[in-house]
Amino acid sequence: MSPLPSMMPVAEVAHPGGADEIKQAMRPVPKPGDGEVLVRVAAAGVNRPDVLQRMGAYPPPPGASDILGLEIAGEIVALGPNVAGLSIGDQVTALVTGGGYAGYAIAAAPLCLPLPAGFGMIEAAALPENFFTVWTNLFERGGCTRGDTVLVHGGTSGIGTTAIQLAAAFGARVFATAGSPAKARACEKLGADRGIDYRGEDFVEVVRRETDGRGVDLILDMVAGGYVHRNCEAAATDARIVTIGLQGGTHADVDMGLLMRKRLNLSGSTLRPRSVAEKAAIADGLRRNVWPLLSAGKVRPIIFATFALAQAAAAHRLMESSTHIGKIVLTI
Ligand SMILES: NC(=O)c1ccc[n+]([C@@H]2O[C@H](COP(=O)([O-])OP(=O)(O)OC[C@H]3O[C@@H](n4cnc5c(N)ncnc54)[C@H](OP(=O)(O)O)[C@@H]3O)[C@@H](O)[C@H]2O)c1
Repeated sequence: MSPLPSMMPVAEVAHPGGADEIKQAMRPVPKPGDGEVLVRVAAAGVNRPDVLQRMGAYPPPPGASDILGLEIAGEIVALGPNVAGLSIGDQVTALVTGGGYAGYAIAAAPLCLPLPAGFGMIEAAALPENFFTVWTNLFERGGCTRGDTVLVHGGTSGIGTTAIQLAAAFGARVFATAGSPAKARACEKLGADRGIDYRGEDFVEVVRRETDGRGVDLILDMVAGGYVHRNCEAAATDARIVTIGLQGGTHADVDMGLLMRKRLNLSGSTLRPRSVAEKAAIADGLRRNVWPLLSAGKVRPIIFATFALAQAAAAHRLMESSTHIGKIVLTI
């Protein structure tokens, strides 16, 4: 293998703001620490949290790289001390706390997963952020199980396309909201029983009608704000509602009487600040339960567009236009 360069290309944000603030630069290649590996990045996923970080609304947690990028796929080129089960030359996909929009990135060894059978780097890079988030929120926290009825908000997002497919693959009946009739139909193609155009239809009414007034057992919500009360209205008795995004606002007016009468379980989580050990437990769940589905082609990442690293600003503009269905990926 050729020696590692000392410098690498990155896309960095010098000042929080619009997509034009993403600048190309050169930075030193980082060195892996205890329990870490250095990955030569072939592709990196773009996620809504990257857009929020670029705008200054989602600062990296202490110790994380300030470079954008929460997920990568590539080849391991160096090992830090105390790394077991991984070797130089391994092709992996990894959840990282930052630093993905770069030629090389550091990953914690337990958060590296092998490429599912038949996967290329672009598809592999589209997995970690969405699959870790959906597995821990929909399945571990939300307890999604066969026979559940599930409502996924933002069904055509990277998160939504993952949640629809996984919930359906595990035997749930899925409803999904999206911002146009065409996107609602795209949700149905991914396995939703009924896509709901949230601009033209009232999701509470549709869900109630489709479930004979019963409501849904589980809701994955990335909107919050005004959706919190409406989620409670759309929920069945004993339902679980898991919030993972705040696109509609951080505060909500909740009818606590409704919550008590229906015995609802409201929860939420963020992935990025959790410890390596907590994320490693999620990785184990994915390896056992989801990687076989990916390798068998039963669930797949939906790649909408790819951009070169130098076009990272255009990738962000596309995400902010919300015209995409599925994932946007950078190639390096
Ligand atoms: N908590 C965590 O650990 C965690 C981790 C990763 C991501 N997230 C969150 O998950 C969300 C999706 O992330 P992503 O990277 O997949 O982003 P994305 O592809 O840009 O998706 C954003 C989605 O939000 C939908 N949306 C916006 N307003 C809506 C509304 N009123 N009703 C229903 N849907 C609405 C959009 O739908 P239309 O385009 O159809 O309007 C779009 O599908 C973001 O909020 C992100 O911050 C949370």
